[in-house]
Amino acid sequence: MTLSRRKTLALIGGGTVFAASAAAAGFLTTRTPQVAQRPWELAGTYADPRLNALSFALLAPNPHNLQPWQVALEGEDALTLHHDPTRRLPETDPFDRQIMIGMGCFLEQMVLAAGAGGHSVDLTLFPDGEGGPVAHAIFRTGATPDPLAAQIMDRRSCKEPFEDRPVPSALANELESFADIYTDAPTVETLKTLAWEAMEVEFFTHRTMQESVDLMRFGKAEINANPDGIDLGGPFLETLMLAGVLSREVQNDPESSGFKQGVELYRTMLHATPAYAVLTTPTNTRADQVDAGRRWLRLNLATTAKGLALHPVSQALQEYPEMAPHYASAHALLAPAEHTVQMLGRLGYGPSTPRTPRWPLERKLINA
Ligand SMILES: Cc1cc2nc3c(=O)[nH]c(=O)nc-3n(C[C@H](O)[C@H](O)[C@H](O)COP(=O)(O)O)c2cc1C
Repeated sequence: MTLSRRKTLALIGGGTVFAASAAAAGFLTTRTPQVAQRPWELAGTYADPRLNALSFALLAPNPHNLQPWQVALEGEDALTLHHDPTRRLPETDPFDRQIMIGMGCFLEQMVLAAGAGGHSVDLTLFPDGEGGPVAHAIFRTGATPDPLAAQIMDRRSCKEPFEDRPVPSALANELESFADIYTDAPTVETLKTLAWEAMEVEFFTHRTMQESVDLMRFGKAEINANPDGIDLGGPFLETLMLAGVLSREVQNDPESSGFKQGVELYRTMLHATPAYAVLTTPTNTRADQVDAGRRWLRLNLATTAKGLALHPVSQALQEYPEMAPHYASAHALLAPAEHTVQMLGRLGYGPSTPRTPRWPLERKLINA
């Protein structure tokens, strides 16, 4: 839900202009949350091959940027990946399905980064069963680097309207080895409607919207103090915060103009979509969910390499009662009976977007 400059201009109400004082202008030039972005600069600077791979892994996509990973280093060459049980989305992801997909993204990025550094990784998923740690990994010298690793620093989830420009069929065909790609107009129109109606359910169901609002970080100081969740930063949004137009209070008040304009911006963004990417699995075990995350990460790196933008839109796949009709529609449309749609994403040509915040690696290490 990162709001951009364009969205901000709309939020300030089509014409209202804030006359910034010279002091305010100075303030506004320093709004980049550098502390929160520091982990991007530290990626690849560690001597221990495990730490080096982990410093890239923590840049992986994950739901609501919760970064639910915890890692215990073991001996000289091994580690165990855990899910931090305090980092969950109980309203919109009650079974931790999306959390596990994020763990898969983390693992794939770790393996790719290790390979780029000359190490292969022996992975065992859920070594103690599905209730235990997510994975055990042993690093070994010698690997064939995967070219996708070169895209790690440029990969983004692009939460913006996409250009009115089709995804060429040759590119779509190449991406078919990573995911199901939909470019035909009738299916794309159906998916736009589905994604929008599902988003409306999330917006207007108080407890699911509140889950997002509780994860919003308002401005540089909050983002640097808690580099996770939904970061609302940058000079324009901070101008709105200073003016009292954008605040935690109005975010879940459907009567407020800020809420209404936010909803409208989402509608516009979701409709500016020329194609979709979809991942499904025949069964829905924890290993399937982690594997879907590994595939999503590879897809996102491949789209980056091809100059395409990718944006997960997960609402219709979420498992809570109000969403059930949209969940059923998504599954009827996108997967054979009994299969699970693990990921749905917008695909197209989007603008470049900034790096999202991350907690430092050291905060994610725990004792074995
Ligand atoms: C399983 C999963 C579900 C996600 N669902 C959504 C979503 O519904 N809407 C959205 O804007 N972003 C979604 N994201 C993207 C995350 O918000 C994003 O990865 C995170 O904020 C970090 O940003 P980055 O991917 O640009 O590094 C999802 C990511 C994952 C892995």
